[in-house]
Amino acid sequence: MEREAIVSEAAIQRRVAELADQICREYGLEKREDRLLLVGVLKGSFHFLSDLSRQLSFDVEVDFISVSSYAGEKKSSGIVQIRKDLDTNIEGRDVLIVEDIVDTGATLRHLRELLGTRKPRSLRVVSLLSKLQARGIPSDIEYIGFEIPDEFVVGYGLDYGERFRNLPYIAILREG
Ligand code: IMP
Ligand code: MG
Repeated sequence: MEREAIVSEAAIQRRVAELADQICREYGLEKREDRLLLVGVLKGSFHFLSDLSRQLSFDVEVDFISVSSYAGEKKSSGIVQIRKDLDTNIEGRDVLIVEDIVDTGATLRHLRELLGTRKPRSLRVVSLLSKLQARGIPSDIEYIGFEIPDEFVVGYGLDYGERFRNLPYIAILREG
């Protein structure tokens, strides 16, 4: 399997700092009772959530949810299952879902629907990567790090069969 780096470690860190600035500006203006709750989607978002949260200039809370739609495959099955639910009651809370990548958008649509029924005060999404533009799908994601080509990528949390999550950069994975 061949790897071609497409987003360097330095580019990721720069963009994460920019996203954090934007998030701070936009949430900072609002009067809030509670801390912003970052909801990391396991496992792919663990580096992104870790880096992003440390660039935010205000106090946040962190929780995780685990969903599965790929089950070791390179293509989404379209069926989204909750494997680990939140520990936090999000009613009345400002919630920011932190995702590694949006491909078909099915996972996030499902997550927004599910968490939306729990009556958060606000619900937004930040995704480090998106293939929506390359796939010609309109995007409803509030914050996107990088639009990438419609290729299978690994690294910085993203895996192929649990491999490559610890690469510090993003690379296209090709058979061969
Ligand atoms: P979606 O539901 O099709 O948008 O797929 C989203 C989920 O599939 C992400 O949370 C990732 O876990 C996984 N995924 C999508 N594209 C890739 C990829 O290129 N590499 C690794 N995982 C991916
Ligand atoms: Mg995954």
